[in-house]
Amino acid sequence: MSKAVSFEEMGGRKSLILINKIFYDKIYAHPWLKKFFEKIPQQNIENQQVDFMQKVLGGQNIYAGKTPPVAHMHIVITEEIFEVRKQLLIEALDEANANQHLIDKWLNLDLSFKRVLLKAGPSQCKRRYKTDEILHFEKP
Ligand code: HEM
Repeated sequence: MSKAVSFEEMGGRKSLILINKIFYDKIYAHPWLKKFFEKIPQQNIENQQVDFMQKVLGGQNIYAGKTPPVAHMHIVITEEIFEVRKQLLIEALDEANANQHLIDKWLNLDLSFKRVLLKAGPSQCKRRYKTDEILHFEKP
């Protein structure tokens, strides 16, 4: 049985801030992924992600956002775009020199959400608010 590694031992909040900064710099520069974030200020999504990952990795729970299925109900996430995002995440974890336990846990968590986030097309999406657009972008 492997030893449970605490949130602080894996680098704590400081390392989540660094990784998410590198990760979203890549997403906001990516020709396909950036289209999903056109209306979202980068700092807002980074802050939400840091709080979310802190919660699911066993740190203090101060996350006030939606659960991933609800947060993405208006977004067509295909297997292909999910994998593109995953590659950028792997690069970000590597460039930030992240702790190996953190990398393993983060990638497993991401994978555990895959099934509930994937959609075959716009007909499987729902608006969260009346003002929401359905986000569906073909590969450029
Ligand atoms: C290709 C896959 C993905 C795309 C295109 C995507 C896109 C987005 C977008 C556009 C938002 C902003 C929604 C808004 O506030 O209007 C968002 C929020 C968020 N995403 Fe993703 N996402 C993806 C995968 C994931 C995965 C795998 C996770 C976690 C395991 C995740 C966690 C979150 C969280 C926690 C938020 C914040 C929710 C909130 O503020 O209430 N996303 N995502």
